[in-house]
Amino acid sequence: MSPIATLFRSSIGRKFLMALSGIVLVGFAIGHLVGNLQIFSHPDHLNGYAEFLHNTGPMLWVVRAVMLLSLGVHVWAATVLTLENKRARGGQAYAAGKNWLRAPFASRYIRLTGYVVLAFVLYHLAHFTLGVTNPADFKGAHAYVMQGDYAVAGLPVVAAGTQVDNVYLMVYRGFESVPVSLFYIVAVGLLSLHLLHGIDSLFQTLGLRSQTWAGALRKIVALVCLLYFIGNVAIPGAILTGALAPHPAAEVYSVSATATAASAQN
Ligand code: HEM
Repeated sequence: MSPIATLFRSSIGRKFLMALSGIVLVGFAIGHLVGNLQIFSHPDHLNGYAEFLHNTGPMLWVVRAVMLLSLGVHVWAATVLTLENKRARGGQAYAAGKNWLRAPFASRYIRLTGYVVLAFVLYHLAHFTLGVTNPADFKGAHAYVMQGDYAVAGLPVVAAGTQVDNVYLMVYRGFESVPVSLFYIVAVGLLSLHLLHGIDSLFQTLGLRSQTWAGALRKIVALVCLLYFIGNVAIPGAILTGALAPHPAAEVYSVSATATAASAQN
């Protein structure tokens, strides 16, 4: 059997694939949060950043393909491992008592939190990437005129005066809805719990969790997950409570898509 086939066919191989795909997904989740936090500054930042990502063309699709593959492998491996565990126990749940009491909350509910997060990601794609749930406020419905250059590592990548999608306004309007914001808050809470156990067991699977530093690792992972949770909740939380008023530039320099299309024809 080739090493690749062994990875997919053996239990330990599937655990390794789950850890590897988990690293990719955690990297994306943290990078995505850092990008999203730009909503707390001028709309040029979030809008320029989104435009820059969309302008990377084929690179964006390579990253999307890697993400999709990682998500697919992660969910597949988790499902197969769960079914194997069930079969090994002969369909019996763990004997009541010790395991139940000893397993910390995050590890006991790792599968449940995983599937809820998957449902959240599908909703999130429909909301902010495809605009199915909120077509009137979708990023393409309002173009935005950049007020200054957007720079990456000191290099201007989106010039002032460029018309770009108004991602800032889309996110702002999206989180003005109480049920939508509450769903996001619950989902990122569950995602943070998922990461709490997931990152810890990822180190275990890769053989990087020795007895000597398991305690310190647990504390570091808990801190990272707590910061991740706070960062994610801050966005819908600040919008919903009014702590973050929409930056006036987001509306003032916003052009409706129909006006943009009409001026393009003239
Ligand atoms: C408050 C929290 C969040 C905000 C404000 C937010 C915002 C956004 C926005 C605006 C987009 C569309 C970007 C564009 O097409 O220009 C997007 C896409 C996406 N988000 Fe989030 N997001 C949040 C949380 C999350 C979480 C927790 C996850 C899952 C780990 C996630 C996963 C994704 C994915 C997979 C995409 C598609 C990326 C692509 O188009 O290639 N987001 N998000």
